[in-house]
Amino acid sequence: MYMITFNFEQKAVSSVTFTNVKPAQSLLEVALANKIHLHHDCGGVCACSTCHLYVEKGDDYLEGPGRREKDYIGRAADPRLNSRLGCQCILQDGRGKLIVTLPDQTPLREGSTLNFK
Ligand code: FES
Repeated sequence: MYMITFNFEQKAVSSVTFTNVKPAQSLLEVALANKIHLHHDCGGVCACSTCHLYVEKGDDYLEGPGRREKDYIGRAADPRLNSRLGCQCILQDGRGKLIVTLPDQTPLREGSTLNFK
């Protein structure tokens, strides 16, 4: 099980932490299941860069990016050394803590609230 904190570059959006997150799912799936709208225009098949995020901590719990993912990361806005595509970040078996940051172009899902507590 994992503990995952999502930070948001958007001002006025507070960080949120989820506990007991099961492995074998992507960070995109974790976000969507928790009403965080992380764009996913291609449906999560590594054919766009709209699910771009930054893995601040815990990248050891994820498989490294493949060539295709790296290619699409290069097309994302403001790519950094810790850039990943959320749909390609599959949590491996194990447990630990991850911290990710969603870029400013990632708004919350319509109808969700900013208060996750
Ligand atoms: S949703 Fe398109 S690459 Fe992740």
